[in-house]
Amino acid sequence: MILTGHARLAGVIGWPVGHSRSPRLHGYWLDKYRLDGAYLPLPVQPGRFEQVLRALPHMGFAGANVTVPHKEAALALADHVEPVARRIGAVNTLVVRPDGSLEGHNTDAFGFLENLRQGHPGFSAAAGPAVVLGAGGAARAVIAALQEDGAPAVRLLNRTAERAWQVAAELGGPIEVVPWEQRAEALAGAALLVNTTTLGMEGQPPLLLDLQQLPVDAVVSDIVYVPLETELLGAARRRGNPAVDGLGMLLHQARPGFAAWFGVMPEVTDELRNFVRGP
Ligand code: ATR
Repeated sequence: MILTGHARLAGVIGWPVGHSRSPRLHGYWLDKYRLDGAYLPLPVQPGRFEQVLRALPHMGFAGANVTVPHKEAALALADHVEPVARRIGAVNTLVVRPDGSLEGHNTDAFGFLENLRQGHPGFSAAAGPAVVLGAGGAARAVIAALQEDGAPAVRLLNRTAERAWQVAAELGGPIEVVPWEQRAEALAGAALLVNTTTLGMEGQPPLLLDLQQLPVDAVVSDIVYVPLETELLGAARRRGNPAVDGLGMLLHQARPGFAAWFGVMPEVTDELRNFVRGP
């Protein structure tokens, strides 16, 4: 990669940031589309975040992704916040406007829906009730996406019921909080099941869930992508349910930022999926 003095600049701000796959992902697209630009890991301690954010427009940055632990601070500090980011309560993408002010976006809801649409063509949340497991930041983005796509109802289950009630109160709309212990029964008549908990992730406990009551045409998706084929997705496929893995959400959520900074809406391909999973 050879940069000129006009290279467009972006990066990911986090602490720590060494585990982030975003530099690899954006670097792949910059190469693929032969763009004069760079995307850097930007390790920024919590106490320094505002200083760095304010400096971005003055350093010629087109914008940045924001990850843990800065996403809520980015929401508070951005000059203009899009409605979906406010609903989710976090900003993961900053875009510098020509006047130097900062736009805050959250592209996780977009990434979730685009991944389902690519993995299961014709997917629509309007098809029926959705069951969402978990009540963290990922669950907020998933529910916001489902509501935007016309889900008639969301059944929300979380080990800590209090957090589920809080998400339901904050997001509003038809969200039914169901006790975690009733997760097998909650699947009856559902059109979609999404795991947004860390259960089933490498090094975490398994997700124990009996799928017997889930209709066989219900789509099953997992936010966990290490391993790519989680036990939940495997069990779903074995009984005939369409299953969509979580890697695509990560890849699709990155597209709007790349488009805003570098001027090309990039594609998610099988080659990219394999590349990002590499070392
Ligand atoms: P994120 O913001 O990335 O979604 P998070 O806020 O840490 O991450 O949320 C992790 C989710 O996994 C939560 O819903 C959490 O449940 P609690 O709210 O009860 O903590 C869920 N989770 C993690 N470990 C779990 C376990 N052993 N059993 C059930 N749920 C678990």
